[in-house]
Amino acid sequence: MSDFAIVRLGHTDHDLIQSKIDTALSVFAHDRIPLPPPTPTSLMLNFIQHHRNKTREEWAAVEDGRVIGFSPVHLPVLDNTHNLQFDVRVHPDFRRRGVGSALLGHVESRAAELGRTNLTVSVRSPVPEGPEFLDFGSAFLERHGYAKAMTMGLRFVDLDDVDDAELDRLWTESLEHAEGFEIVLFEGAIDEALVDGIGYLHSRILTDSPTGDWDVRKIVFDTARVRDEERLRREQGVLHLHAAAVHTESGTVAGYTEIHIDAGREHEANQGDTIVDPRFRGHRLGTLLKIANQRRVRDWRPKMRRIWTGNAEDNRHMIAINESLGYRRGAFGTLFQKALA
Ligand SMILES: CC(C)(COP(=O)(O)OP(=O)(O)OC[C@H]1O[C@@H](n2cnc3c(N)ncnc32)[C@H](O)[C@@H]1OP(=O)(O)O)[C@@H](O)C(=O)NCCC(=O)NCCS
Repeated sequence: MSDFAIVRLGHTDHDLIQSKIDTALSVFAHDRIPLPPPTPTSLMLNFIQHHRNKTREEWAAVEDGRVIGFSPVHLPVLDNTHNLQFDVRVHPDFRRRGVGSALLGHVESRAAELGRTNLTVSVRSPVPEGPEFLDFGSAFLERHGYAKAMTMGLRFVDLDDVDDAELDRLWTESLEHAEGFEIVLFEGAIDEALVDGIGYLHSRILTDSPTGDWDVRKIVFDTARVRDEERLRREQGVLHLHAAAVHTESGTVAGYTEIHIDAGREHEANQGDTIVDPRFRGHRLGTLLKIANQRRVRDWRPKMRRIWTGNAEDNRHMIAINESLGYRRGAFGTLFQKALA
């Protein structure tokens, strides 16, 4: 029987933060999760960065000065203030002793205290055609009354396997449908002329893409939030590669895509949002944007192998574009939710 206490970690708890990072990486290695693990830098920065759109609490189960399990809690403050997003991770050597349940119970009490009525958490699980790995999260959450709200396919492209001739063909074919648009590529800070348009597109991402039964509401993604996220990435040393489709005549941002590469990560990158304004759909802008951004990743990171992305399983159009670029499914990401009375 474990004898642990649940405590809130603060940015000056240096030894416990290090212990939490060790536990986080042990969970990834032990469960053989095929996605990129969090970087120690990002885990460390979670304790000191202030986000404009959410507050964050870090709870940990501590035994003999060691973090044996932990739960980060995210509390949106600009929108979706009914929601609390969290995670529970328990060190492989301390499982099936009630540590996860104690952390989950604590998070639920915190939600009740803060008046948050919807709790969401995501879990990775294997797909039949992909690598085997451990998923204990689904059974754990179902046992605690959580229900599946949305299933995403998590796909990756292996840049070594991409058929360049096929991408050339797809690019040329798509370009014929995109007269009157220009694809603009840039890194880091967004140009003043594009920032409002990109913020507008980000704000549509959850209303324009399928979200299953997830109780999520419109997000606020104004220019101030775009700039805030830029600052957070700059502080983290993240390389942010953007591609925008601009409607030449009006200067409107018609479409956008982004790739994030964490500091020190040479082999795996993450795709962020991709969205085309409904007014400008049907011009193959999604395909052009994704090809253009994918093709320059190795200019910046020559050893890059994989880019990961996630889409709701019923997001047919985005999945078709991704698969035409060489993406294949490597895991499921399932969002579970529970409503508190
Ligand atoms: C999921 C996880 C947090 C569970 O932590 P834990 O401390 O082992 O959980 P508990 O001991 O409190 O388990 C409570 C109940 O959940 C269910 N459960 C937990 N692990 C399970 C497993 N491997 N298989 C089946 N059921 C399981 C059982 O009903 C269990 O009760 P029991 O032990 O009396 O049968 C842990 O396995 C983990 O960290 N996994 C990786 C991270 C993850 O998937 N997190 C996402 C969920 S938030």
